[in-house]
Amino acid sequence: MIIAIDGTLASGKGTIARRLCRYFGLPYMDTGRLYRATGVAATKQGTDFEDAMALADVARTLDLDDFDEEELRTAEAGQAASKVAAVPEVRAALLELQRAFSKQAKGAVLDGRDIGTVVCPDADVKLWVDANVETRAERRWKELREKGDTLSLSEMIAQLKERDERDKNRKDAPMVAAADAVLIDTTHLSIDAAVDKARAAVEAAIASKL
Ligand code: DC
Repeated sequence: MIIAIDGTLASGKGTIARRLCRYFGLPYMDTGRLYRATGVAATKQGTDFEDAMALADVARTLDLDDFDEEELRTAEAGQAASKVAAVPEVRAALLELQRAFSKQAKGAVLDGRDIGTVVCPDADVKLWVDANVETRAERRWKELREKGDTLSLSEMIAQLKERDERDKNRKDAPMVAAADAVLIDTTHLSIDAAVDKARAAVEAAIASKL
C-alpha cells in the first residue's frame, strides 16, 4: 500500500502522514527533508544557487545523518529548499531515492509536493492537504517562535505566499493536486479530525480493492 500525501506548507500533511504510518504500520519518508538538506548543504558549502549541476551534485551526495532536525526546520532552510526544489537537475537527482523507498514490500507513506503526480503516480491512495495561508502562517509562526525565531506574523505570511508561488509555478513537477487525490482542507479542522478524514480515505481505498 503506497500512500501519497501532498499539499502546502504547514497544512498539517506531515502530522497526518506520521499518524497514518503509525496506524497502518508503514515506513515514512518526509521528502521535503531531502530538499531542505540539499538547500542547507548547498548554503554551507557555498554552492552557487544558479549552478544547477553543482546543486544536483550536492543532492546526489547527501548524507542525511549529517543534519540535525533543528537546522532543517528553520525558515532559512525552508527558503533554500524551495529554491533548490525549482531546479530540475536537483529533482532528478532525488527522484530515484524516493521511488526506491516507495517500493518496499509492505509499502510506504511519502509526503511532499509531487508524490501523487510524479514520484508515485500509481499510489493506492492520494491525499491533498491544504488550508488558507493565514492559518498556515500562524501555525508555522507559533512553532518557530517557540524555538526563539523573531520573525513577525506578517513576515511569515509573506514568506509562505512567496514559497507557495515558487512551488506552484516552477516548470518541473509543480505543486498541484493529483486529479484523483482526496482533498482535505484543515483550515477549520483539529489534528484528530484531519487524521480521521485521511484514515477514512485510506480505508475506503483498501475496501475498494477487496
Ligand atoms: O514540506 P517542506 O516544507 O519540508 O518542503 C520544503 C520545500 O521542498 C518546499 O518549498 C517544496 C519542496 N518540496 C518539493 O518541491 N517536492 C517535494 N516532494 C517535497 C518538498
